[in-house]
Amino acid sequence: MNKFDSLSDWQNFRSRLKGSLGFVPTMGALHDGHLSLIKQSLSDNKYTLASIYINPTQFNDTNDLKNYPQQMDKDIKILQEIGCDFVLTPTYEQIYPDNFNYKVSEQNLSKLFCGRSRPGHFDGVLTIVLKLLNIVQPTKVYFGKKDFQQYLLVKNMVEAFFIPTQVIGCENIRETDGLAMSSRNFKLCPEKRKTASLFYKILKDSKNPEEAIAQLKKENFKVDYVEDCWGRRLGAVYLDNVRLIDNIKLGELI
Ligand code: PAF
Repeated sequence: MNKFDSLSDWQNFRSRLKGSLGFVPTMGALHDGHLSLIKQSLSDNKYTLASIYINPTQFNDTNDLKNYPQQMDKDIKILQEIGCDFVLTPTYEQIYPDNFNYKVSEQNLSKLFCGRSRPGHFDGVLTIVLKLLNIVQPTKVYFGKKDFQQYLLVKNMVEAFFIPTQVIGCENIRETDGLAMSSRNFKLCPEKRKTASLFYKILKDSKNPEEAIAQLKKENFKVDYVEDCWGRRLGAVYLDNVRLIDNIKLGELI
């Protein structure tokens, strides 16, 4: 696997690369959810690049950024083992020469759900994704549908700006107890990790969002939102200040 710390080294290399390139953007702390995206990319494309960059502009809470899990050496090893071709690990100075003076701002979807409680979050996400797409120039880019709102916003941005990349959404990958895989799960203590599995079960088994909210509160989750939209039931909760999000297709409800 080739590791690129420098954007210009990558861009030189990219200009000579022939054949399809799949791209999986990540903030590291890789888990099986990321690996399923990488596997999909490996099977769809001649080459696959993963990026590891904890993007500060999408964190509206400095503590959340400070506590975000980091394991660069382990992540590089995981990528090597799975057969990823390239990894890009840029710095803030390289990515934000303008110090986030220019940003992408969506006016509708980004204000709902996660955007309501995390002001500016999606400006940061869309800006970094646009920058990375311009730098990587992939044939296809892969996003997990756990972050369903993020997936839709990126898909719409790619259309709005005529970016010649296909956005591929991949279904949620879950732990055996149903909890959606997330780097944030690493932050839960064993007791809360056990409670966390109820999030998925309650979303799935409740008749409507109101019932889900009541059940979640009973189990001591702090509920940000549960709502039905886009044929899905979407939810965000906190357990000990760890934010968890999830969604399921409404057809999967019992
Ligand atoms: O989903 C994520 O991990 C991040 O939002 C992304 C897409 C890598 C942008 O920083």
